[in-house]
This record gives sequence, structure tokens and C-alpha cells, in this order.
Amino acid sequence: MSLLNILRYPDPRLHKVAKPVSLFDDRLKKLVADMAETMYDAPGVGLAATQVDVHEQIIVIDVSETHDHLQVFVNPALTWASEEKQVYDEGCLSVPGIYDGVERPARVKVKALDADGKEFEMEADGLLAVCIQHEIDHLRGKVFVEYLSPLKRNRIKTKLLKEQREMQRAS
Ligand code: NI
Repeated sequence: MSLLNILRYPDPRLHKVAKPVSLFDDRLKKLVADMAETMYDAPGVGLAATQVDVHEQIIVIDVSETHDHLQVFVNPALTWASEEKQVYDEGCLSVPGIYDGVERPARVKVKALDADGKEFEMEADGLLAVCIQHEIDHLRGKVFVEYLSPLKRNRIKTKLLKEQREMQRAS
């Protein structure tokens, strides 16, 4: 297994739209394993393939406190979302150090395939529901800061670009 490089906002590659996976081979299994390792190492609770510059519909999530409940969603699609909303302070491995409230449906149903290509459907609430929606957004090329006001988003962009320039200068 190996750690993958995580793209940082405002990298334009974060806005690419991911294609569905059709081949459930060893390459996919290795990619899923590498994505999981990268997520745990970061550490984070979710990672979409888009964030590691692979534009295929693959998500890994682990919201357990023990970090031993990996959930893999290939070609995920929401089949239902509750009318009821919740606001959650979201963060993102591609937007380091930034957390802000985003309103989304409180409960969702998602249909997806596992790494072997087997279909499943599940209902989620709480942090898992937030995570699933946040990661599916990544696959559509959307980063959570796009839910914030243009003013906030520009501040975040400026801050992160400044940090990236400083990091480049230091290396
Ligand atoms: Ni994210």
C-alpha cells in the first residue's frame, strides 16, 4: 500500500467530474486500499478519489471512533434525502484547517457497489449522512466551501494559496 497525494483547494482538478467504475479488478482494490491508508494517515473520516486526482466514482469513509469500520462506496447515488435538514461543521482534507457550517438533509439513502462490484443500499444519519453527501459532492467536482458565501470562499482561497506559496518557498 502507499500514501497518495491529496489535492488542495483551489486546485482546478478538484472540479473534475468523476466517471463511473466498470472494472472491479485488482487495480481498483489497490486504489481503494491506498485511499483508505491515505485517509487514516491524514487523518480524516472520508476521502473521494477526486481528491487524489483519480476521476472515478470511488469513496472511502470511516466515521467510527475506533477507526476500524471502513466503508467503500463505488458509483454511489443518493436514492432519498429527508426534508429535515441539519447543519454540521464540515472540514475537508483538501481544505486543511478550515471548518464551517453546511446545511444538508439530515438523513439519506445511498445505493452503491462495494469493491467487488456487489450492489447495496443503506440509510444514514448524523455524521455518516454528512460524510456521504460531502464525498458524493467531490465526485461531482464540488468542494464544501462552495456552499459558503463568496466572501468567505475568497478568504479561504487567499489563505490557502498563501500557505501553499510559503510551503513551496520553504522546500
Ligand atoms: Ni472533502
